[in-house]
Amino acid sequence: MLVYRNFRYFKWAALLVLASVIAYWLHQPFAGVPNGGTWLGYVLGTIGAGIIFWLTYLGIRKRRYGIHREGAGKDKRKDGIKLEDWVSAHIYFGLSLIIVATLHTGFQFGWNLHTLAYALMIIVIVSGIFGVYAYIRYPQLMTENRRGLTLNNMLAQVADLDKEMRGITMSMGENINAAVLRAAQETRVGGSFGRMLAGQDASCPTTAARVLVEQVAHQPHDDEAALRRLLSLLVRKEELLRRARRDVQFSALMQIWLFVHVPLSFGLLAALTAHIVSVFFYW
Ligand code: HEM
Ligand code: HEM
Repeated sequence: MLVYRNFRYFKWAALLVLASVIAYWLHQPFAGVPNGGTWLGYVLGTIGAGIIFWLTYLGIRKRRYGIHREGAGKDKRKDGIKLEDWVSAHIYFGLSLIIVATLHTGFQFGWNLHTLAYALMIIVIVSGIFGVYAYIRYPQLMTENRRGLTLNNMLAQVADLDKEMRGITMSMGENINAAVLRAAQETRVGGSFGRMLAGQDASCPTTAARVLVEQVAHQPHDDEAALRRLLSLLVRKEELLRRARRDVQFSALMQIWLFVHVPLSFGLLAALTAHIVSVFFYW
């Protein structure tokens, strides 16, 4: 999505940025201070607002189109525009706003509605940058972490291990029996968004059971072979849980930025509309 069509959208956006910088540099404002109210201020503001409205539209269009992600890119839309066009243009023109909108303001900031719109824009852009990073980085980490298994495979293996362990612990002491039962019944992968993001569980009942069995195994015991077997199964389960939780964590990280990006882009639209209306009102 970044190198798409030989950087076509990067080039267009870079051209826009360059033209804005040159115009700002050559521009001699009547009042002496560059600001949003000069003719160049109006031009850059209008371009900036145009890009913001257009990006929101692209984002929504892309989302609707994104339902068919499997074939994305290959099948063209009716108007011949591919998914990558939308995303690539979205990214580069989004980034160009950092320059275009900043030059529009003439670096005049204050505690006002105008600067609120500007701040929201910056947050939306920064979250977008994180999104691109996430889409590039996490799929590869996920593949490495999964090592050929799906999340469902991992959880199915965990269930098999639980069953096998329950068979072994029947003949063991009450404390081990209870700990392994708890590990089977109360171990959680994911849950609330916070737990998904954490990617681990500090009070995991499976870890507690493993620690207990380790302690018991250090003391002389009648049934050492069975204890060793139980310990190895618990270690294997812990390892699977670790990977499953990482998998859930990566999925959550790939979504979390959207919870900032999308609502705040609508907040931005509202603040921007208010900004534009207010400057015409006071004019
Ligand atoms: C049609 C689009 C736009 C128009 C007509 C417009 C108009 C103006 C005008 C007339 C000013 C000068 C206000 C003053 O000196 O009191 C201004 C300042 C400003 N504009 Fe815009 N603007 C537009 C788009 C944008 C965009 C896209 C942003 C950023 C998200 C933005 C952020 C600001 C900021 C931060 C200031 C400086 C406010 C200050 O002096 O404290 N504007 N704009
Ligand atoms: C002020 C500028 C921006 C606005 C208003 C905006 C708005 C939006 C909206 C409304 C969506 C649709 C989300 C959805 O429902 O799927 C979206 C998606 C997206 N945006 Fe932005 N965006 C902006 C800037 C950026 C920037 C600078 C980047 C990257 C550097 C970026 C990266 C993305 C990506 C990768 C998606 C696709 C998410 C998905 O897979 O659905 N955006 N944006």
